[in-house]
Amino acid sequence: MAAFLSSEGLQKSFDGTRVLDDVHFNLKRGECLVLLGPSGCGKSTLLNILSGMLQTDAGCLRCDRVVLDEPATQTHVGMRSRNFSMVFQDFSLWPHMTVAENVAFGLRVKGIGRSERESRVKQALDQVQMSTFFERKPAQLSGGQQQRVAIARALVVKPRLILLDEPLSALDARLREDLKLEIAGLLKENDLTAVYVTHDQAEAFSLGDQVALMNQGRIEQLDRPEVVYARPATRFAASFIGSSNIFAYERSNDGLRLESGFSLPAKIDMDTPERGHVCIRREAVQIFPGKTACGNNGHISINASCIKESFLGDRVEIHAEVDATTVFRGYSEIRLKPGEPVYLRIDPHALHFLEH
Ligand SMILES: Nc1ncnc2c1ncn2[C@@H]1O[C@H](COP(=O)(O)OP(=O)(O)OP(=O)(O)O)[C@@H](O)[C@H]1O
Ligand SMILES: [Mg+2]
Repeated sequence: MAAFLSSEGLQKSFDGTRVLDDVHFNLKRGECLVLLGPSGCGKSTLLNILSGMLQTDAGCLRCDRVVLDEPATQTHVGMRSRNFSMVFQDFSLWPHMTVAENVAFGLRVKGIGRSERESRVKQALDQVQMSTFFERKPAQLSGGQQQRVAIARALVVKPRLILLDEPLSALDARLREDLKLEIAGLLKENDLTAVYVTHDQAEAFSLGDQVALMNQGRIEQLDRPEVVYARPATRFAASFIGSSNIFAYERSNDGLRLESGFSLPAKIDMDTPERGHVCIRREAVQIFPGKTACGNNGHISINASCIKESFLGDRVEIHAEVDATTVFRGYSEIRLKPGEPVYLRIDPHALHFLEH
């Protein structure tokens, strides 16, 4: 299937500073692309170029094979003509209008008649379970309810593309979890194509058909969420996703010699690069009290000492020192005391190598 939305070499500078650089992606109809990355990496700027609020400085943006934005040919299709919807972090409802009026507004602008308007508003509010609130003003709603209305307002116009900029980040953790699943359901039910911005990797992985990991204006990795998680392409990706342990290494006779001098007793094969960085996600490092036992079932076992622990509720995060300059982060099922001897158990398949 050909790409529905395609971006080739998008670029943006503000006051001479490049904030987006050479952005390429292709999105199929009905798919959700998540833009994931730290604050200031250019996510909202890219979304605003997609919406038409900003124009790209270079490259080309196409939707359904039609050029929307291309400086070389002086093409720029305005926001109104794109028929895209946006959902923002701060809900952005009109305070003087009721819920129903907020949702109906886009249909009114399009000149859709009253009876169709009313039935579509009702259907959209039903979809987000807000139909009983239709007469209220935004100030009479909770944050989560306001965001549901904002989502209904985006859905009701049957947009060709829905753009969501951190729609859940103003909500508390429990509500975020519930609404995340609801949004995923609404996107699929309505067969919507979406671009979703977040800095939360759990949101990115559960919503994205593709995840674009952004850093300093560039897409560092663009792939299915499973691949971005299991095989980060760069050191930035490894440290941002899954908070890996990352060590510089060189191959040695008995495994990997880390930069600190510590020898990690890992099996290496022909494919293991001569030198580079080895990444081990925290959840692949299990930590137990005491000393490593004989017979480790093919796991890498290392004696260490607990230097920090942090109780997370469902598990305990541990910093364990193997020597003065080699510290691993991993998880224990029980609380441990700083200074206590521990051992680490690492699945050798969890080692991921980067050549740089
Ligand atoms: N209108 C503007 N004028 C000047 N600089 C801007 C403008 N808009 C954004 N920037 C800068 O561009 C960079 C990218 O900003 P952007 O808002 O796209 O980041 P973001 O990834 O959405 O961050 P956050 O997660 O904090 O929302 C930042 O350094 C920001 O200061
Ligand atoms: Mg932003």
